Amino acid sequence: MSVDLVVRNCTVVTPAGRSPNSGVAVEDGTIVAVGRSDRLPDADRVVDGEGNVLVPGIVDCHIHNREPGLEYKEDWESATRAAAAGGVTTVVGMPNTDPVIDRPDHLELKFERGEASAHVDFQSYVVVTSENLDRIPALDEAGALGYKIFLGSTVGDVPPPNDGEILEAMKRIRETGKRLGFHEENGEIIDHYTAQFKADGKTDPIDHSHSRPVIAEQEAVERMITFADETGAKIHMFHVSSGSAAEAVARGKARGVDVTAETTPHYLWFTEDVMRDVGNPARIQPPIRDADERDRLWEVGMDEGAIDCIATDHAPHTPEEKKVDDPFGNTWDAISGFVGLETEIPALLTFVDQGRLTLEEWVRRHAVRPAQVWGMYPQKGSLQVGTDADFTIVDPDREWTLEDRDDLHSKNCVTPFVGETFTGDAVATVVRGEFVYDDQEVVGESGYGTRVDVNDGD
Ligand code: DOR
Ligand code: ZN
Repeated sequence: MSVDLVVRNCTVVTPAGRSPNSGVAVEDGTIVAVGRSDRLPDADRVVDGEGNVLVPGIVDCHIHNREPGLEYKEDWESATRAAAAGGVTTVVGMPNTDPVIDRPDHLELKFERGEASAHVDFQSYVVVTSENLDRIPALDEAGALGYKIFLGSTVGDVPPPNDGEILEAMKRIRETGKRLGFHEENGEIIDHYTAQFKADGKTDPIDHSHSRPVIAEQEAVERMITFADETGAKIHMFHVSSGSAAEAVARGKARGVDVTAETTPHYLWFTEDVMRDVGNPARIQPPIRDADERDRLWEVGMDEGAIDCIATDHAPHTPEEKKVDDPFGNTWDAISGFVGLETEIPALLTFVDQGRLTLEEWVRRHAVRPAQVWGMYPQKGSLQVGTDADFTIVDPDREWTLEDRDDLHSKNCVTPFVGETFTGDAVATVVRGEFVYDDQEVVGESGYGTRVDVNDGD
C-alpha cells in the first residue's frame, strides 16, 4: 500500500504518552496510521521529522479575527496566516465584529468570508444579547460552534443581558446541546471603578488594570455557576486571568456543574508589572494580575486542573489604537487586546522546558480539550485513525527571541511578548494532510481552510 503522505522520525506526543521514532500516515486528508517510523506504509511524499515532536493540531478556541467589518485591524486571511505560522490548525472567531454575529445571516457571512480566504480550519461563536434570545435555535441551525455572553463592557460594547435574560438564555441553549461561554467580568463593578478612577485623574496603564479588580471576575464566575446549577446549562469561562477565578471554577466543578475554563499564555507568563514595563501595549481585558494571583492560577488552574484549555484571545488593534508611541500616556485613550497566535506554542513549550508542564499536559490543554469542550473532537484535536490529518510539528529545544513585532504575520502585531525569549517553536503546520506552514514560510493557499463540523461535544 502507498499513501499520500508519511511524516516519520518524530516523537509523537498525545495525552496518553510519547512514542519516539514514530510518525503519521495520511491518505485523502485523513489519518490512516500512527506508529513506529519503520512500520508506516510507503508514501508519495515522505517527510523526515528530524527528531522533532509531532502532536495533534493545536486548536485555538479564542481569537478575534475581526472580519466582517473591522478588516483594518485583521481579517480571516491574516489571522489564519498567523495561525498557520504559529502552529495552529483550527481557530474559533469571536462575535464582536461589525456587524456583531447575533443573527444567522451574520454568521453565514462570517463563514462565507472564512471559506473564501482562511489558511487553516475555523469556526465561530455567536453572541447572545437582550435582543436575540428568540434566535438561539436558528443560530444553532446555522451551525454556530457555541454561544458567548459579554457580562461587562469591553471592546465592541456589546451590551450585557440582565440576569433574568441570562437564565432564560441558559435554558434555551441547553436545548441545543451546545455550550455558552462568558466574558466574565461583573459590568457594574468595572463601570463603577472605571468612572471613579477617571474622576480621580488616574491615567496610568496600571490604573486600567486596577479598575477591573479580581472580585469582578470571581463574582461573575460564581454567579454563572449558580445559574448553570439551576438551569443545567453547559458553561465555559473564557480567558480566566486570576487564581481567585480559577478557584471559583474548581468549586463549580466540585459541585457537579458542567463548567469548563480557559486561560491564556499572557496570564501565565506575565504579572501586572508588565503594565509598568511595557504600558498600554499590554492593556487587555481582563487585565494581567499580580504575582499572587498568577501563581495561584498556576497552582489551581494548571497543576490541580481547574483550567481545561489554553487559548490566546488574539486581539489585533493598530499601533495607534494601542498607543505604541505613547505607552505610558493616558490609558483611557488606549484600546485593550493584543495578538497571540504566534507566541502561544513558544510560551507553552517554554513552560515545558522550565519543568512547569509536561508535553502531554500541554497537548491535552491545547488540542484535545478545546476540541472536546466545543464539540469538534475527534475530527479535531486527536490523532485517531479516520479523523482529519491535522498535526503540528514543534522543536521543543529551539531558543529564540521575538525581536520585532513585524516578524509576525497578522495585519497589526502589537504584543507585550516582543523582547521575550522562548525555548520551543512551531516547525510545521499540517491541515487535512496539507503543509500550510513549513520551514519558516506560510506555504498554504488562502481559501484552503474550511468550516469545522460541530457535534454536541463534552
Ligand atoms: O482586551 C480585550 N480585547 N478584551 C476583550 O474582551 C475583547 C478584546 C478585543 O476584541 O479586542
Ligand atoms: Zn476575547
